[in-house]
Amino acid sequence: MGSYGMLARRAVLTETPVMVQIQELIRGVKDCISLAQGVVYWQPPKQALEKVQQLVWEPSVSRYGADEGIFELREALIKKMRQENNLHKSSVMVTAGANQAFVNVVLTLCDAGDSVVMFAPYYFNAYMSFQMTGVTDIIVGPGDAKTLHPDADWLEKTLRETKPTPKLVTVVNPGNPSGTYIPEPLLKRISDICRNAGCWLVVDNTYEYFMYDGLKHICLEDNHIVNIFSFSKAYGMMGWRVGYIAYPSEVEGFGAQLLKIQDNIPICASIISQRLALFSLEMGPEWVTNQVKDLVKNRALVLEALSPLGEDAVRGGEGAIYLWAKLPDKYPDDFKVVRWLARRHKIVIIPGRSSGCPGYVRISYGGLVEDDCRAASDRLRKGLEELVKDGMVE
Ligand SMILES: Cc1ncc(COP(=O)(O)O)c(C=O)c1O
Repeated sequence: MGSYGMLARRAVLTETPVMVQIQELIRGVKDCISLAQGVVYWQPPKQALEKVQQLVWEPSVSRYGADEGIFELREALIKKMRQENNLHKSSVMVTAGANQAFVNVVLTLCDAGDSVVMFAPYYFNAYMSFQMTGVTDIIVGPGDAKTLHPDADWLEKTLRETKPTPKLVTVVNPGNPSGTYIPEPLLKRISDICRNAGCWLVVDNTYEYFMYDGLKHICLEDNHIVNIFSFSKAYGMMGWRVGYIAYPSEVEGFGAQLLKIQDNIPICASIISQRLALFSLEMGPEWVTNQVKDLVKNRALVLEALSPLGEDAVRGGEGAIYLWAKLPDKYPDDFKVVRWLARRHKIVIIPGRSSGCPGYVRISYGGLVEDDCRAASDRLRKGLEELVKDGMVE
């Protein structure tokens, strides 16, 4: 005992979750403010919480439910997907959040040893989901230097030339960690490339409602596309753990295989959480867009705080709750800068290396009300000014 030799290589060789490292950093710095974790500051709708409160004594919430999700929620989701996402031929499975949805999808579609494609900067948990399921041949494609849009020409060439053909391509739209939105024509092109190559496309739509400046989120539907959604950010339900998978109804056996995975991980998402999700959905998308609309103020505050890095340093931010920024060239060790900012300026952000891009950082602006975000931005600005002017002085 006492050696990695006794533990699964699958787990040992998977990256350490960046948020666990960051939480440790936060615990070690008194009175620090976090612009690190991807969270929102609001709670679920009051009416929905009040309704759920009355349900705790009902026997059904203490029993197992249907693996694929309670009937009423699935029905409501099918309706929502038709009305809001233009998805008409998709079946739905409710999961314990979008991360579990992603693992379900990987286990359903990929075998150990398959290759898959992501784009830098990528969502770290998706990367880890591949690693821990034995899908270790992860091909990371480039994004456009300015827009960070996935490079579709590169994708076309890579899917044509890689043998065997990669099994799956995944994107987050709008993105984590960059907030970049993939416009409809580009998403369609990526989808066509995947279809022609015989490859799955998995789109994580966790931030579907987090769109700014008049942009509108869209989903695509086809027999090679899987869409993933989450209640976590939209309805302030991070801790309730509810997400869902929209998969093509016409693909024979997809649902049956998904159920095998589901039955061995959560069996079903928590029943009381699914009830809260249903009550929250009844509030309508306006409830969410109303919460989201003020986040542009936080985004502006953080954008201003990043200005010491120079005009061209900031990327993304059309959607989601993130801005992505390049540190000056002389700081390739982004984690060192993150630790220094925490220690000296009591502000915590995420190192870009966890998304495959050393020398960059991710700033999350959804977790603080405006006044707190202003205080956090002041610290970030001071820290970056010092970094640029004097370096990492102690
Ligand atoms: C792109 C993306 N997918 C999934 C998740 C996890 O969501 P959930 O809480 O629904 O598991 C997050 C959370 O940060 C995310 O940013």
